[in-house]
Amino acid sequence: MNGAKVDVRKVAGEGVTWTLLATLYLRAWESRLPEPILGDRYAAGAVERIDYDFAALRRRIRPASNQFLVALRARQLDDWSRAFLARHPNAVVLQLGCGMDSRMLRLDPLGKLRWFDVDVPHVIELRRRIYPERGRYTMVGASVTDDGWLEAIPADRPVLVVAEGVLPYLTADEVRTLLARLTGHFTAGGELVFDASAPWVARVAEDFRWAPRDAREIERWIPGLTCADATPFTTHHRRIPVRRYRALYRLIHAVPALRNAYREFRFTF
Ligand SMILES: C[S@@+](CC[C@H](N)C(=O)[O-])C[C@H]1O[C@@H](n2cnc3c(N)ncnc32)[C@H](O)[C@@H]1O
Repeated sequence: MNGAKVDVRKVAGEGVTWTLLATLYLRAWESRLPEPILGDRYAAGAVERIDYDFAALRRRIRPASNQFLVALRARQLDDWSRAFLARHPNAVVLQLGCGMDSRMLRLDPLGKLRWFDVDVPHVIELRRRIYPERGRYTMVGASVTDDGWLEAIPADRPVLVVAEGVLPYLTADEVRTLLARLTGHFTAGGELVFDASAPWVARVAEDFRWAPRDAREIERWIPGLTCADATPFTTHHRRIPVRRYRALYRLIHAVPALRNAYREFRFTF
């Protein structure tokens, strides 16, 4: 890569959340495995372009073990998204809390879809330096809890809403209001895919504020939403290409309380 690297702190300020660089770094790390689960080479390219203390980040997040959690989650959400987009090639895609994720390049490399990526303004400022806007792709700098930004997203076609690693950081009231807004706005219907932890995980995790007990809790909140899948993060442990971690995930998967610690959800509306 030629040209100067993008200095995270200069562009996005000190407030940039390290978590979005952590998930990017874990995907980049995983992409270098001989048989990756996700193989996100765009993440590897993005890390190359960013000036940040990745050595310190690496010590904190231990990618050798944690890469699989992030890769399995992203792969599940990508698989559901691909299946939806194959059925609805005219769909609009709305990704919430996109951070530095490269999903639009993974799923739509030719830029044919009308795709909106939303994150808070200072993150979008950074993102614009890493992933330039192109034809039908738009970045929106707003909090997903703000009024207004949703009105600019076309509502007359089926929509795929993806929220990876973001809803746990909102309060229950914020999630409920957001889901009600989304289902109210997109009258042509669609799917919503996201991940969430179990309540016991949120009680011990530093930053998590919302964790649903089960999918019914969400269906009761928003009667238009129907759960189509609730998949434990360990479900596809056979995809893990490193034997000892494959064995560890298989063990976790055998214990309901542990496998349900994190789940990916797919709702239709
Ligand atoms: C753990 S990172 C995940 C980023 C990305 N989805 C990924 O998987 O790499 C959480 C992201 O949610 C964003 N976020 C948190 N609260 C938000 C809000 N209220 N509105 C928009 N984005 C938010 C953060 O800025 C950050 O980019």
